[in-house]
Amino acid sequence: MKIGIIGTGYVGLVHGAVMADFGIEVICADIDKQKIDKLNKGEVPIYEPGLKELLQKVNDRIQFTTDLEYTVENSEAIFIAVGTPQAEDGSADLTYVFQAAESIGKHMNGYKVIVNKSTVPVGTGKRVKEIIKKQLENKDVNYDFDVVSNPEFLREGKAIKDSQLPDRIIIGCESEKAKEIMKKIYDVLYLKETPFLFTNIETAETIKYAANAFLAVKISYINEMALLCEKVGADVQEVAKAMGMDGRISSKFLNAGPGFGGSCFPKDTRAIYDTALKNSEEMMVIKGAIEANEKQKRKMAEKIISIMETVSNKTIGILGLSFKPETDDMREAPSINIIRELVQKGARIKTFCPGAMKEARPIFSDINEHIQYCKDEYEAVKDAHAVVIITEWNQFRGMNLQRTKKLMKDNYMFDLRNIHAKDKSVYELFQYYGVGKG
Ligand code: UGA
Repeated sequence: MKIGIIGTGYVGLVHGAVMADFGIEVICADIDKQKIDKLNKGEVPIYEPGLKELLQKVNDRIQFTTDLEYTVENSEAIFIAVGTPQAEDGSADLTYVFQAAESIGKHMNGYKVIVNKSTVPVGTGKRVKEIIKKQLENKDVNYDFDVVSNPEFLREGKAIKDSQLPDRIIIGCESEKAKEIMKKIYDVLYLKETPFLFTNIETAETIKYAANAFLAVKISYINEMALLCEKVGADVQEVAKAMGMDGRISSKFLNAGPGFGGSCFPKDTRAIYDTALKNSEEMMVIKGAIEANEKQKRKMAEKIISIMETVSNKTIGILGLSFKPETDDMREAPSINIIRELVQKGARIKTFCPGAMKEARPIFSDINEHIQYCKDEYEAVKDAHAVVIITEWNQFRGMNLQRTKKLMKDNYMFDLRNIHAKDKSVYELFQYYGVGKG
């Protein structure tokens, strides 16, 4: 079995590496020559634990190229794994998906299965089909082909494990022939008894958004509960724990924090809301989750400023910049809103993040004169009036609290992930504020 993958971002690269590990011959293609050159030199353009090692391991079964013709001609199935950035109106920008479909149509030399792995609004599979058909008509050939929707559920930071041992494989397709090819591709998972769900393309496309939006709602729900807990003297961690004991709810994704970020939840909630609007429906629950998330991010800085009375000319040590641990990804990270607001109110920022120091600098290019990028968490808290933990990297869980306190000028600690909330000493050492700890 030979497969092609168009797009070497998170999804494409991880999928390619894992498929090659399953014994499949993989051709990874991208129009970005720099990326492909890097990959051919054994360098990995993204930070994902275990990916570099896996790519080395499968080196003889995976190729990297900018040659789409070669990729399409030599693959039985071609996965589209290109980016779907957010357009200005909140909808998903499908330019890259349609470009990929056009290239596939242009270079097709026989029956192919075209598999959509990018997160795309319902109806995209149909449009991909039309684009390919048109290309074939232009060439005056009549090859048979099938379009399949096979959404990805991997999480950044845990992408390899999520792909090797997924909770489920969703396959939306219209023909038995395509179904059999997809089964053959995922043979290893089939043998491991991973649950498979075969459905139509529209349902598969909807499943991805429904799952992400639901998780986003769950987070916004607990974040709102946290705001209430603070007002009424309740403890959101205990509330979440007890809620999670109900098997129908489960404790996963019930950690209150500074709001969800990343390249998926913010974008996907807006996109499904937009899809519904275009179909004359307004999804009120999802709208609520989006608005609650914006409010949550805003509330974090407001709380710091109100408790400290003023942050003007105060030094704030910010720990963690990436939207979550084990990634260098800064997309829609709550740290962006919080730092901007604090700087606007006159604060000086000292910061350290184990993953995203390089990525953060250009994001704060207009306010970098107020930000000092430090070599570790201790340098970041030195002479600070307050320490704010925004991302729950393990390194910060294990930090020496006595040493931290000694280095600081004042002793405010805002732990936006509640990672130290259960340590009694924080309450003795610091003026400690978690999230939802009333
Ligand atoms: C998410 C989904 O979890 C994946 O299943 C999906 O495949 C992916 O989007 C995607 O669409 O590609 P990801 O964005 O990598 O994955 O990150 P998550 O681990 O889901 O976290 C998202 C955000 O929610 C982070 O900002 C995180 O801090 C926040 N979060 C998560 C909370 O605030 N509380 C929680 O309890 C869990």
